[in-house]
Amino acid sequence: MLKKNSKIYIAGHNGLVGNTFFQLLKKSGYKKIIKANRSQLDLTKKKNVENFFAKKKPEFVIICAARVGGILENKSYQLDFLLQNVSIQNNILLASKKHNVKRIVFLGSSCIYPKISKIPIKEESIMTGKLEKTNEAYAMSKLFGIKLCSILYEDYGKDIICLMPTNLYGKNDNFDIKSSHVIPGLISKFLFAKKNNLNVTVWGSGKAIREFMHVEDLADAILKCLKISKKKYLKLFHNQMPIINVGSGENISIRKLSELISKLCNFKNKFIFDKSYPDGTLIKNLDSSKIRRLGWKPKIKLKNGLKKIIIYRQSKI
Ligand SMILES: NC(=O)c1ccc[n+]([C@@H]2O[C@H](COP(=O)([O-])OP(=O)(O)OC[C@H]3O[C@@H](n4cnc5c(N)ncnc54)[C@H](OP(=O)(O)O)[C@@H]3O)[C@@H](O)[C@H]2O)c1
Repeated sequence: MLKKNSKIYIAGHNGLVGNTFFQLLKKSGYKKIIKANRSQLDLTKKKNVENFFAKKKPEFVIICAARVGGILENKSYQLDFLLQNVSIQNNILLASKKHNVKRIVFLGSSCIYPKISKIPIKEESIMTGKLEKTNEAYAMSKLFGIKLCSILYEDYGKDIICLMPTNLYGKNDNFDIKSSHVIPGLISKFLFAKKNNLNVTVWGSGKAIREFMHVEDLADAILKCLKISKKKYLKLFHNQMPIINVGSGENISIRKLSELISKLCNFKNKFIFDKSYPDGTLIKNLDSSKIRRLGWKPKIKLKNGLKKIIIYRQSKI
């Protein structure tokens, strides 16, 4: 059982998800949060990870560390996305096994589902078809992680929950235009163009439909998964390792999203779509009924979440 003085290690606590979860734990009164910057602990180094676990002895581990990026970044650095993620996951999961961590939450992604999946995508769609080419290496690293989790769960009795979040956004995002995900990328482009009286070019046709969720809603879902009793989740998942989608249920085309962000930024110039950039999977949204049955639901509406972030970004530039 999770207690206020349980030792909780957040791998990747400086990232979008990790930092939001760290803030939530602090706010909720958890006293023994374990963290380490990349300069203190490179998670791709097996021996260092082992030593860290031996010294810190975490009871709960949340794996938020990964090589993450937008569509262009994924396409351009396939080798890094594949190998770095596999090695980070292997090192943390195997050290958790060795040091008898009580529960692990592993973060996958909606990218693990086949390019052609029945919409909304249920957890059962996993491994039923070919992956989207632009993020295949990243998706395969996550599938490898899920397989390793399921082996540790089935053959070694480890307590592991795998969460598959939809596309996230939040204050602590990467706002670099080239390497970011859609929302921070668009916010940066519109704010920059507004400041410099330019037009905006949006990558892709604008037709792709995506589901976006505020990262604070994911942080709530992670905490829910740490708190829930094993008995309760075993019942819902028929004794299988839980693989759980986490989505907002709010779907929007990239065209509509661009219009919304442009309006919220008070951008008055033009924006066009550059079809020479890939769209990725045309429609991708999750069936999140399982996590809802565990008692979680999203709280932040897309428009409100975007408004807050745009105000925050405007104050930074
Ligand atoms: N963002 C999304 O839209 C999204 C959607 C679905 C699933 N997810 C999943 O959620 C998880 C967290 O994503 P995120 O968006 O929070 O990513 P992020 O903002 O890029 O954060 C990743 C964190 O991992 C750390 N890290 C990476 N490589 C490391 C290494 N070798 N050693 C130590 N630390 C390392 C980074 O450290 P530095 O700060 O030093 O770089 C960073 O703090 C990932 O598993 C991702 O696949 C994300």
